[in-house]
Amino acid sequence: MTETQILEARVGNLVTEDLRRARVFKNYGIDFCCGGGITVKEACRRKGVPEGELISAINDLDQSPAGATPTVDGWTATFLMDYIVNVHHGFVRKQIPAIRAFSEKVAKVHGHAQPELDVVRDRFAVMATEMEAHMAFEENELFPAIREAQSDRDAGLQAEQMLGTAEDEHDAVAAIMAELRRVTNDFTPPDWACTTYKALYAHLAEFEQDLHIHVHLENNVLFQKART
Ligand SMILES: [Fe+2]
Ligand SMILES: [Fe+2]
Repeated sequence: MTETQILEARVGNLVTEDLRRARVFKNYGIDFCCGGGITVKEACRRKGVPEGELISAINDLDQSPAGATPTVDGWTATFLMDYIVNVHHGFVRKQIPAIRAFSEKVAKVHGHAQPELDVVRDRFAVMATEMEAHMAFEENELFPAIREAQSDRDAGLQAEQMLGTAEDEHDAVAAIMAELRRVTNDFTPPDWACTTYKALYAHLAEFEQDLHIHVHLENNVLFQKART
């Protein structure tokens, strides 16, 4: 891509074209899932990222083989929903009990000296509850409405309202995730941290990575398809 094409493209659309770009934006602290509607130029300006550096990072990626990275843009809405439920909802449901147990244990042992561990335990618990309700809403109401909307106009209007609700819920969850990153110093445990402490932070970092792709696939790919 030319420099101008990259600068004028929307961040979310670039990630939709090639999911590997998610990592580049993440490295520069640029939000591609909930804030993916802005152009690369604007994102660089807001984050103080040198445009040339980001352009090179994206073009370097284009030169390497895509490998097993899925090209999600060509997927149907139905296939996307099945993929999201199986891969991302499945991952969240598997991770929640493990992270909750780690966070409780680490807060109990080290919380008196490291008060942020109490924050991690409490805020993760809130986020987990919100995610469980949100995924149930998508699976039981929103995704069936998107399926039906393809043939039924009334269902289409109903789906439109629910899309707004889902986007607001994504913003709320992403805000807690950002707070967790902040209070944990970018998920960096102290040198003396025990294995469980390190595992907690490593799991949180993975949870964040998955969440960003998950929300991107919904906000910027699935919901855009549902609206057209
Ligand atoms: Fe979801
Ligand atoms: Fe969602």
